[in-house]
Amino acid sequence: MQEKIIILDYGSQTTQLIGRRLRDLNMYCEIVPYNKFPKHDSSVIGVIMSGSPFSVYDENAFKTNLNDFIGKLPVLGICYGAQHIAYTFGGNVESADTREYGRANLSYIEENNLLLKDVKPNSQVWMSHGDTITKLPEDFRIIASTPKVSIAAYQSNKEKIWGVQFHPEAFHSEDGVQILKNFAVDICGGKQSWSAASFIESTVKELKEQLGNDRVILGLSGGVDSSVAAVLLNKAIGRNLTCIFVDHGLLRKNEFTNVMRDYECLGLNVIGVNASVKFFEELKGITDPEQKRKIIGKGFIDVFDAEAHKITDAKWLAQGTIYPDCIESLSITGTVIKSHHNVGGLPEKMKLQLCEPLRLLFKDEVRRVGRELGMPEHLITRHPFPGPGLAVRILGDITPEKVEILQEADDIFISGLREWGLYDHIWQAGVILLPVQSVGVMGDERTYEQAVALRAVTSTDAMSADWAHLPYEFMAHISNQIINKVRGVNRVCYDISSKPPATIEWE
Ligand code: XMP
Repeated sequence: MQEKIIILDYGSQTTQLIGRRLRDLNMYCEIVPYNKFPKHDSSVIGVIMSGSPFSVYDENAFKTNLNDFIGKLPVLGICYGAQHIAYTFGGNVESADTREYGRANLSYIEENNLLLKDVKPNSQVWMSHGDTITKLPEDFRIIASTPKVSIAAYQSNKEKIWGVQFHPEAFHSEDGVQILKNFAVDICGGKQSWSAASFIESTVKELKEQLGNDRVILGLSGGVDSSVAAVLLNKAIGRNLTCIFVDHGLLRKNEFTNVMRDYECLGLNVIGVNASVKFFEELKGITDPEQKRKIIGKGFIDVFDAEAHKITDAKWLAQGTIYPDCIESLSITGTVIKSHHNVGGLPEKMKLQLCEPLRLLFKDEVRRVGRELGMPEHLITRHPFPGPGLAVRILGDITPEKVEILQEADDIFISGLREWGLYDHIWQAGVILLPVQSVGVMGDERTYEQAVALRAVTSTDAMSADWAHLPYEFMAHISNQIINKVRGVNRVCYDISSKPPATIEWE
């Protein structure tokens, strides 16, 4: 059984980061809402309680029944988690005069404390709290202080309970990872055994048990997540998996053919549906970006639904949903915001059960699993590509002719990035067809043709992004290639906007 650490989520923005840090240590962990501790799961070896936007005194503050695990498992409280424990056991938590936010240094560290092993004297920690613990419960002691916060970390003398007022998961806590490792490995006895190979082995076994001889359908997009999910399922249930790959006519040049070939080489049972005529018909004359998205979203579901219905005995819909998409995040009002699903509405409509084998993985872990499964590198390192495809990169109405122009220009740009060894250094790139014509000259002729913009960004999560600082020589080369080879384009610009305030896509 895969041992795990449970992270109880009290709504802090850094809860996911705690999970991220543990996974980097090859420690398997799961983030669950503060009130969903899995009491009957014998594979849990420790509990971490996260921070929270609440004060323990708030009427709606998230409270956990600590008896579920204290005395049975080692516990680490972080910020609000530490205050919750101290307050519950009779300590004092008070509102600090000023909210303490930013770097601080540990001026006192208890010697030989298990949690603080190898934490350097004066180590920098990251503080972010309004309340502070002013008195510890009986039988608790201080194990670290900063000049301003005397109870920066504590430990119970009786139970395996530790608390830290700072955030070890934050980048600015110098020895934060060490502290999390001390907790997970030395205190909880974690074996750091999570690996892509162990994930594949246990997931394939679970999928076999879960799905038995049932038929499963899965929508492929050409992207990493759905592709890895398909290969994993294929390993578990083989021909009982049917994949559907819809071509809405707005993919990159030759993308449909290339990706279909990749899928077939991987031994997947794939139905490729060319539905471009339907999409072009429905998009005719539409210029509003949101309307384009709606038409494509609905069209996709219609086509997928029609194909899926042909597999009459299908019982499951599989999706490549990954962890950041589906962590149940807690809003301040206490409502649990549930995961989004890629193929909205379909499972209910078709009475299918959902199967999401990657739902506990982060993006880079999905890539590790893909590599371990022997998938080709170009599928694994592929840039993200929006579901509505080139439709959101053609400003104004969409016609097959415009799509073709854009496909040609995009192909020159993307192939160039690969040839110049730049592709893997950027998050995402593409070309935008502008609804602008400009005057140019070719040979002796005056031209009046279209302008395109190149977009390439660096990012870690697409939430923020910077324009990629591509070499001038490369841009000059691409510009020449596009203007010489793509009929209808006589001007190339480079988008130097960051996100925010701009977005990655233009629509
Ligand atoms: P923006 O343009 O919002 O994009 O900065 C952030 C990331 O999301 C992708 N994107 C989409 N993906 N359907 C998708 O599946 C969409 O409608 C959509 N719009 C943007 C975008 O390519 C980038 O990776």
